[in-house]
Amino acid sequence: PHPSVLSLSPSSLSVDAVGLQRQIDELAAFSDTPAPSVTRILYSEKDVLARSYIKSLMKEAALSVREDAVGNIFGRWNGYEAGLPAVATGSHIDAIPFSGKYDGVVGVLGALEAINTLKRSNFQPRRSLEVIMFTSEEPTRFGISCLGSRLLAGSEAAAAALKQAVDGQNISFFDAAKSAGYKICQEDLPNVSLTKESYSAFLELHIEQGPILEEEGRSFYVSIGIVTAIAAPASIKVGFEGNGGHAGAVLMPARNDAGLAAAELALAVEKHVLASGSIDTVGTVGILELHPGAINSIPSRSHLEIDTRDIDEKRRNTVIEKIQHSASKIAKDRGVKLSQFTVVNQDPPALCDESIINAMEAASRHLNLSHKLMISRAYHDSLFMARISPMGMIFIPCYKGYSHKPEEYASMEDIANGVKVLALTLAKLSLD
Ligand code: GLV
Ligand code: MN
Ligand code: MN
Ligand code: MN
Repeated sequence: PHPSVLSLSPSSLSVDAVGLQRQIDELAAFSDTPAPSVTRILYSEKDVLARSYIKSLMKEAALSVREDAVGNIFGRWNGYEAGLPAVATGSHIDAIPFSGKYDGVVGVLGALEAINTLKRSNFQPRRSLEVIMFTSEEPTRFGISCLGSRLLAGSEAAAAALKQAVDGQNISFFDAAKSAGYKICQEDLPNVSLTKESYSAFLELHIEQGPILEEEGRSFYVSIGIVTAIAAPASIKVGFEGNGGHAGAVLMPARNDAGLAAAELALAVEKHVLASGSIDTVGTVGILELHPGAINSIPSRSHLEIDTRDIDEKRRNTVIEKIQHSASKIAKDRGVKLSQFTVVNQDPPALCDESIINAMEAASRHLNLSHKLMISRAYHDSLFMARISPMGMIFIPCYKGYSHKPEEYASMEDIANGVKVLALTLAKLSLD
């Protein structure tokens, strides 16, 4: 006789909070910048060390570990009907420059702790339970976000983009992968994709990265966010080219300054975003580079990377069109060349699955935790896992909503609550 989920009383689920905090801190030490900041870039030495750390924890939990061609890592706990589609959960451990130690990490280490918690409670899964660590959720190195999950979902566009992809040092994706021990070539990429029969459900535990849960928690008790949809992200690369020249000798009327074109476009992005009239439309110029980057040289080249998102895909696409129109107009008016305008990705939003939402709500109630239904404005690997599996996300509050900076923080109490909701939901879905 196998214990049912109902036999998993809140008290039988004991999360090892001290151990989990220690693991979060240990993982944070694999960083290219000093604490409290974390920088862990795809296929770097620190990323490789962090990956071995995750694999060793998976083995300690007695999971069977598999790694695919690009380094997505899977740890499986076989269910007693192991032939059925599995229930999966996971997130990423790569970290953008000078970020914090919880983004993504909580959904990988927390997932492993959820598995260990279920094991300690003597639960036996019917469907196998699988923890996934996705390769490069962050776009830092090759400009492609959710690289691992895009390929798992069979994105041909991502595979095609990788063919040309080089990093800031002009190292190709394939050379970078090789230096991290992944000897892959273009032909291997389609093999990464999974079928729609692989998983019956996919769950991701993540810090909210916004202020809503913490703020509401101050006035009444809310500790869990249950995501209903993930907003639609897009990113654009733009290049301008002018003649450059001497900052003293070339007089103003004779200039075509690629830097000023970039500055004007950055302001146009803000204008178009605000013109949508909705608080849900956002746009950011997070990268703006000038060449040659000398105080006494007129910028001859500029490079911008623009991130824009909305919960409404059509409205987001309108912003992209307006940005493109501005880029052409600015180039024309300033006599510079628009050398690049590439929409790197223009992804639709994703909806969370009704029955998974219900299971997460039931788990929260069972644990006496109050919850709030909410939208994820950040993107996650779940956006792409939703293409091959019913998907759900659990959010936990984080300090002042801080994320993508060193001050990012979530309390162990909130993390442990998230782990419990995840554990109980995994248990329920594994028996379905
Ligand atoms: C993910 O890191 C995002 O930018 O939403
Ligand atoms: Mn992030
Ligand atoms: Mn993340
Ligand atoms: Mn993210």
